[in-house]
Amino acid sequence: MPRISNRASELGTENAFVVLGEVGQLQAEGKSIVSFCIGQPDFPTPENIQQAAVDAIRAGHHGYTPSPGIPALREAVASFFSRTRKVQIDPEDVVCGCGGKPFIGYSILSTTDYGAGNEVIYPNPGFPIYRSQIIANGAVPVELPLREGRGFAFDLDELRARVNEKTRLLILCSPGNPTGGILSKEDLEEVGRIVAPYENLWIYSDEVYSGLVYDGEFESIAAVDGMLERTIIADSASKTYAMTGWRIGYSANKKLAPAFTRWVTNTDSCPAHPNQYAVVEALNGSQDKALHMRDVFLERRGRIVDGLNAIDGFECQLPGGAFYVWPNITEACKLVGAEDSEELRKRLLYEAGVAVLADIHFGTRVEGEGQHIRFSYASSFEDIDEGLSRISDFMKKNKR
Ligand SMILES: Cc1ncc(COP(=O)(O)O)c(C=O)c1O
Repeated sequence: MPRISNRASELGTENAFVVLGEVGQLQAEGKSIVSFCIGQPDFPTPENIQQAAVDAIRAGHHGYTPSPGIPALREAVASFFSRTRKVQIDPEDVVCGCGGKPFIGYSILSTTDYGAGNEVIYPNPGFPIYRSQIIANGAVPVELPLREGRGFAFDLDELRARVNEKTRLLILCSPGNPTGGILSKEDLEEVGRIVAPYENLWIYSDEVYSGLVYDGEFESIAAVDGMLERTIIADSASKTYAMTGWRIGYSANKKLAPAFTRWVTNTDSCPAHPNQYAVVEALNGSQDKALHMRDVFLERRGRIVDGLNAIDGFECQLPGGAFYVWPNITEACKLVGAEDSEELRKRLLYEAGVAVLADIHFGTRVEGEGQHIRFSYASSFEDIDEGLSRISDFMKKNKR
């Protein structure tokens, strides 16, 4: 039997899929499970967007498109980025791809050389694909711990201590997965001052939750003085427009756009043609539905945060964005005799019928920060209430 490469054998994944497998198995056995695992809106894609795709199919838009996307989409994205990030983005700086995710890999591939000791700093806890792509592409992963005491932003001195001449890429994610935390304008400005002396340092700004900011406005590092040139803005239609399965994402960076275009040519050729028309409508058409979804998430945020804080042993901050909460459950573990967050997660699943993800699914546990689990509140009010009530009963029953 031919062998599989080390790179492929060791390639990391989103461990959330392991939990989804457990949930599927329990449901197949007839168990009732309330799941807070999935990171996608529970709304259908708005009608006007669906219609634009149907029209595009009927109009015969079936073939390949230019790799970076149809001109109408690149123009729509440039205008969207310019107005929401308060910077000037030209359509030729925009490259569209099959979701926001591919740009993580394209960016590491375009800014680091394999095995050359190039360092990539990334948030921990964070989206697991950052680390797996850094390693698969032969760069050196450097964790940047997020701090609960700073609303799950990182400590700026801890960033300063990690940036050096070997750093090629700094990955930022705000609003963040899995914490929902936000990087403030002041923090972004300080990040700008920290990286400014390093000529070869790029920033990957993962902004896929930019449409889900609840208190104040979305802020991008791209708008910080001197940062636009070195910042890769990455966003997608997935979360804002409930379009996760349509697989359309977009990036902007003047210097890297030609390289990203070649990566798209080398991988997917182009994003799906009719779906590009759908996203033109998403970006240029009425925003009413997107704003409505955001308002519903905002209301759910209040419901789940209050509910969790009412349960013994749970301490939950009010996150500024996305649709995740990241309660500290150190005390809850002690109360029920669970060794750590993973043991509590399993007991919540098997004994209480509530599915969540544990901190170990998003990186190594940060020393001194305690135990956490992630809830996605992209689920109905009924499920939120039922899940909270099951956890509360479980805690009461098992408290030692
Ligand atoms: C932080 C972060 N970045 C990127 C993505 C990828 O999103 P998509 O490829 O659907 O645009 C996700 C999806 O969960 C995410 O949480």
